[in-house]
Amino acid sequence: MESATHRFRVRRQGQPGSAPHPPEPAVEWRQEFPYVWSEDEVVTRRDTLFFLLAGSGALCLATGTLALVGAVSEGSPAKVVPIARVDELVENGWKVFAYPDEYAQGILINLPGKGLVAYSDVCTHLSCAVTYQPESRRLYCPCHEGLFDAATGDVLAGPPTRPLPIIELEERQGTIYAVRMVLR
Ligand code: FES
Repeated sequence: MESATHRFRVRRQGQPGSAPHPPEPAVEWRQEFPYVWSEDEVVTRRDTLFFLLAGSGALCLATGTLALVGAVSEGSPAKVVPIARVDELVENGWKVFAYPDEYAQGILINLPGKGLVAYSDVCTHLSCAVTYQPESRRLYCPCHEGLFDAATGDVLAGPPTRPLPIIELEERQGTIYAVRMVLR
């Protein structure tokens, strides 16, 4: 280990204006950092450019794949699930049902003048469950006072900006089936 005095002397030898001096002896930093510059792994500009281009390409590919999956799932038929008997709901009555699986729900309404309609009961604002208000024939979200038209699922008031997804129905031999969720 060299003394502090010796280290100071070695540094001063390289200052401008000083006299030429013999090759620098093995100094302390060389022992602590024994790498030769020419053998170091340098990240070149070409490597950096390649990395950026490869990253951009991967992001574009992922975005395209997600868009494709989204487009396919929007238009593809979903599970067919029996959700009620034809005469189960009185006029202006309603019920919730699991659709398209046990982790999501729809709401079925026997709407006066229109008959059976169904929507996803997941509010398009922040996903609270909506309920039907028979007196006003609107769907109400209690979280932030969102309101939807029960005849169309369109937004009437509150923070939601998108209508409720429609669940298409079919009747087969006295049973009502949910057959498809239509995102809008
Ligand atoms: S979650 Fe429905 S209005 Fe906010």
